[in-house]
Amino acid sequence: MSAAPLRWGILGTGGIAKKFVEGLQQVADRCPVVAVGSRSLDSARTFAATVAGCRAHGSYQALLDDPTVDVVYVALLNHQHAEWCIRAAQAGKHVLCEKPAAMTAVELEGVLAAARAAGTFFMEGFLYRCHPRWAKLREILASGVIGEVRLLHAVFCFDGSAVRRLQERALGGGALMDVGCYPLSWLRWIAGSEPVATTCLAQLNADGVDLVTSATLRFANGILGTLHTSFVAHRHITAMIEGSRGRIDITEPWRSTPNESAFIITTAAGSETFPTADDGLNTYAREALTVAAHVADRQAPVMTWGDSLGQARTMDALRHQVGVWWDGER
Ligand SMILES: NC(=O)c1ccc[n+]([C@@H]2O[C@H](COP(=O)([O-])OP(=O)(O)OC[C@H]3O[C@@H](n4cnc5c(N)ncnc54)[C@H](OP(=O)(O)O)[C@@H]3O)[C@@H](O)[C@H]2O)c1
Repeated sequence: MSAAPLRWGILGTGGIAKKFVEGLQQVADRCPVVAVGSRSLDSARTFAATVAGCRAHGSYQALLDDPTVDVVYVALLNHQHAEWCIRAAQAGKHVLCEKPAAMTAVELEGVLAAARAAGTFFMEGFLYRCHPRWAKLREILASGVIGEVRLLHAVFCFDGSAVRRLQERALGGGALMDVGCYPLSWLRWIAGSEPVATTCLAQLNADGVDLVTSATLRFANGILGTLHTSFVAHRHITAMIEGSRGRIDITEPWRSTPNESAFIITTAAGSETFPTADDGLNTYAREALTVAAHVADRQAPVMTWGDSLGQARTMDALRHQVGVWWDGER
């Protein structure tokens, strides 16, 4: 017998909420979007008008009170994530929250405690991890073709200098919070452990958020990881694994789009490219299906609660080294 559809409610009507809902249209039979909540009923109505069967709510709490919603996608600004993840769990809703799921590790502990108490699902939305191509990368690494992994390198730079939410400390802005969290999550995932030492340098804006940031991490197994991130730079998004006998370059590591993303293996024998296969499924549909597949387990193996906590603790450590502190945090 196939599982009942998982009915989605969307918190917020911003850019990523729109993309997520468009993506879910591909899997509307299994993941229907049944409601949206916004600070403004007009925004909610405009948003809902684009999706068949979607109701509009004029407040976030009204969405959480909607009994037809099983799972909430939290697509609000960073400083609002923890509060609404907690409220959603308290309302008995499962949660997929946009990254970063909280401003600090302490906040995230509150989110996890609420999900634990309510018996609900929680996942931080690092959607790239839901793509099966990473299983292929694990196979390549296990084959020994590049030898022992020595160094991981990841870059996420782009020009978001016109985007207000990135500039402001009160909104959880900064390069690390917005996009640096991707390379960090990838380094920790591929290294397979938490860093035992970190160094971080950054250039801050006048409000005290990081514009340009570089970090080095040492993992318990000796692997080193470096990351570079900025939201005031030319677009450059890449990742690389250096081994004792070769390296793997990864194009479009966090989009996984066919024709753009690939693993390129270079050894003394030459170069071989493994493009990402096109199975027709978009990234957001894949993310929603990941939630649906694991909702009964309360966490998904690709982004467990422990993984999110490790991520948040390292984010705190890097942020504090460069002097980015939230109000009331010290
Ligand atoms: N996974 C990805 O690829 C990806 C990409 C971009 C962003 N994100 C993440 O998604 C989240 C939202 O990003 P976004 O780009 O969608 O942001 P956005 O377009 O600015 O939308 C954020 C939404 O938050 C709500 N909001 C509540 N208080 C607000 C305030 N004071 N000012 C502005 N908006 C406020 C608004 O919804 P209402 O007006 O409806 O209440 C707004 O539409 C962030 O956490 C970001 O890190 C993820």
